[in-house]
Amino acid sequence: MMNKLADQYHIYDDTQPLAEAAANFIVLKIKACLKQQPRCRIALPGGNTPAACLEALSKQTLPWSQIDWYMGDERCLPIGHAERNDTMVSQTLFNGQGPSKKQFFPIKAELGADKAAKAYQAQIEAFDALDIVILGMGEDGHTASLFPNNKALTKQDSVVAVFNAPKPPEERVSLGLNTLIKAKYRIVLAPGEGKQEALKKLTLGESLPIGLIGPKHWFLDHAAIAD
Ligand code: 6PG
Repeated sequence: MMNKLADQYHIYDDTQPLAEAAANFIVLKIKACLKQQPRCRIALPGGNTPAACLEALSKQTLPWSQIDWYMGDERCLPIGHAERNDTMVSQTLFNGQGPSKKQFFPIKAELGADKAAKAYQAQIEAFDALDIVILGMGEDGHTASLFPNNKALTKQDSVVAVFNAPKPPEERVSLGLNTLIKAKYRIVLAPGEGKQEALKKLTLGESLPIGLIGPKHWFLDHAAIAD
């Protein structure tokens, strides 16, 4: 079992209870944040796993107008493309039951990685730090669009252009490592057998991008945990 002190593990039997528990956890963190400050800034994940959690989150009762939504990363594809991460969040979190998109700030990845990263950097640097970053994890231990042995992982910028990503599309935009580290809370949704290998490598001390982002709350199921 993983025993990294700074990380906390929330383990569930199945993906739906995990999604609901993660949504409830995020609600608690949002409420705690709004007790301290007038706005809560959250970065949303990409990939497929988070869909159920974001769907569950959309059904919660929260002061949505006090929350600003950002993207943790985006794929350089045309607006509305089925494989864009903001398409997934539009179909789940912004499905009409929960928050509106008035306070949603997508990454303009359709402009190309360099241009989009520069533009998003200005938005992200308009405040000190994100409050909550919700992330997935790839089977190689990547998170957002920070991949192992990719130059973007070592860039110091708050938002980075990503090229030669091993997971298509090759060109992406991602919050930089420092931005993830600076956030108050990091929540990683990583259920499924496919995540086992990366989790095992982390336990054995291998350096993977997900392991570099700072203390995090893992939401895992038994399928993801190698005994
Ligand atoms: C992306 C995501 C990426 C994703 C992981 C896990 O653009 O692909 O941002 O970091 O979270 O690859 O993806 P799944 O949740 O689909 O396994």
